Amino acid sequence: MAVTDGLRIAVVGCGYWGSKHARVLHSTDGVDQVVLVDAYEVRLRNLARSYPNALCFASLEAALPHIDAVVVATPPTSHVPIALEAIAAGKHVLVEKPLAPTSAEARKLITAAAQAGVVLMTGHTFEYNPAVWKLRELVHSEVLGDVYYLDSARLNLGLYQNDVNVILDLAPHDVSIINYVLGEPPVAVQAWASRHAHPRFEDVAYLRLLYADPRLSANIHVSWLDPCKVRRVTAVGSAKMAVYDDLAADERIRVLDKGVSPSLNTDDLTQPPMSYRYGDITSPYVASDEPLGVQDAHFALCILTESTPNTDGVSGLAVVEVLEAAQLSLQLDRPVRLEELSPDRAPALVGGSGIFRSPARPWLRDHAPQEEPQNAWHRGHAATVTT
Ligand SMILES: NC(=O)c1ccc[n+]([C@@H]2O[C@H](COP(=O)([O-])OP(=O)(O)OC[C@H]3O[C@@H](n4cnc5c(N)ncnc54)[C@H](O)[C@@H]3O)[C@@H](O)[C@H]2O)c1
Repeated sequence: MAVTDGLRIAVVGCGYWGSKHARVLHSTDGVDQVVLVDAYEVRLRNLARSYPNALCFASLEAALPHIDAVVVATPPTSHVPIALEAIAAGKHVLVEKPLAPTSAEARKLITAAAQAGVVLMTGHTFEYNPAVWKLRELVHSEVLGDVYYLDSARLNLGLYQNDVNVILDLAPHDVSIINYVLGEPPVAVQAWASRHAHPRFEDVAYLRLLYADPRLSANIHVSWLDPCKVRRVTAVGSAKMAVYDDLAADERIRVLDKGVSPSLNTDDLTQPPMSYRYGDITSPYVASDEPLGVQDAHFALCILTESTPNTDGVSGLAVVEVLEAAQLSLQLDRPVRLEELSPDRAPALVGGSGIFRSPARPWLRDHAPQEEPQNAWHRGHAATVTT
């Protein structure tokens, strides 16, 4: 559906995150009008006070004749019906993370958008974050050497959600960052999670992502029940290590010239088994652009130029598949391969071309896998799930 003039974009769901979309869209190039939609009248009225000229509606249906595109910022379980309604009316759609609760529903959205000829974008905000671009650049430029593993922690006291557990609420961020930084999705996922303060949903979870290259892995720790707010991704390589701290006022990325290697004389038990290296800590420049502003500007640009977003429906599906495999892993008490979700699924193209993409992981060139991945992910990862 070609739009050549100023865009009219509706924000459906004017809560915590939708109100931020409304703010950035008001100063986004190419956007002429921001329309506010919320089923909860008080929310709508409160936000409308900041935007006296905005059109306001209690439902998407009522807003449809006045808009070209929709940002879906409602709770996750309502993403799919709202996005399908918008797509059926020929509107371009940006769906907040996670794109859908299941991979089958994510595929349904991708098919519907393709048939309607509209843009479908996923709100993977961290993929529009200059610090994450820098981390990806470090990983791909071999500064860190061979990357052993990534480790991501997203902890805080709350915010508990009404409709999903902590995996579906917080882990979409970590999975999208890890998929983007590595340029490839995992082949299998194992999850551990537990319910403490919430009657129905797990509030603490650990995910382990396993890759085709058995020497690579990623760990994710998400929690609504932690005394400390943590937003940190660590990349540990054979040469150096990098830490991305999203809460740091400055030096959000630090590169640490630290490492270990086996001692030369391993027969001498009086000597330590490893030798340690402590070197410089440097902090590369990271632009301070607001990721949500970059993301929403990209959405507007993709509509106006009829191009595919960097975080399109397929990128959203790639994240949903990992989340779904994690949920299944909790139920089955074992690691779950992504191909188990849908054996004939097309491979996810998370490392495809795009303005933020760089070449595939260079260290793979010189290191052929030493063992069959299907054995590697299973062995040594005995399931110990607590639900
Ligand atoms: N990308 C990010 O960094 C990020 C950060 C936070 C939240 N989110 C996502 O944003 C979405 C919203 O989260 P939130 O924290 O703002 O939730 P919220 O509860 O604060 O707001 C949701 C709003 O949606 C409205 N709503 C619900 N169903 C509706 C419907 N059918 N039609 C119209 N309005 C409806 C509610 O009345 C509420 O005002 C979630 O999908 C969440 O995962 C993304």
